[in-house]
Amino acid sequence: MQISPSILSSDFANLEAELRAIASADWAHVDVMDNHFVPNLTLGQPVVESLARVSPVPLDAHLMIEDPDRWAPGYAEAGAGSVTFHVEAAADPVAVARAIRAEGARAAFALKPGTLFEPYEELLDEVDMVLVMTVEPGFGGQSFMADQLPKVRAVREAVRRRGGEIWVQVDGGVSADTIGQCAEAGADVFVAGSAVYGADDVPGRIAQLRETAGR
Ligand code: DX5
Ligand code: ZN
Repeated sequence: MQISPSILSSDFANLEAELRAIASADWAHVDVMDNHFVPNLTLGQPVVESLARVSPVPLDAHLMIEDPDRWAPGYAEAGAGSVTFHVEAAADPVAVARAIRAEGARAAFALKPGTLFEPYEELLDEVDMVLVMTVEPGFGGQSFMADQLPKVRAVREAVRRRGGEIWVQVDGGVSADTIGQCAEAGADVFVAGSAVYGADDVPGRIAQLRETAGR
């Protein structure tokens, strides 16, 4: 069970300090948005490269961008320990996953709420993690979509059937109130942005999420 706080909800003027604040987490979730795949714009490869140099925990890059076929391997090269691309944007998801792994990072694919998992089940052979979005990608602070839990369950079931060590990540609206349901459905990596950075005691909130998910 792992916690990956999203720095999308942190202070972008103080990213190094904001990363230090989550040193007790397992990953730092970095939301890359290009204003095309989603209607929001954040940061790109040069910033990821700088963050990777100072982060106390490995970077979990979530690419909400068009043409991951072209751009995804660059984020692994920039030093992200895990690179997640959206299947909706990829022309050749198998090639993207292989290219990420070839750069030495863990590879993952993400599913928007409206995207079914079943057509992508074979892709499990190529990745280390599957991200099930529990909000529409684009913004932090949205409400958790409980209707995505059956998808989490389906991914976990498929992973179990095939064997192997594939992680199941949830992202969007994950808080102390919703993390238990996600864990129960089979998620084992939890992204939380506003729930972590909105807390007065950030390490305390990470510990609370960990404990609640483990229950
Ligand atoms: C949304 C991003 C999330 C976001 C989560 O498009 O992918 O990672 O930061 O924020 P919260 O936890 O506030 O829903
Ligand atoms: Zn994300």
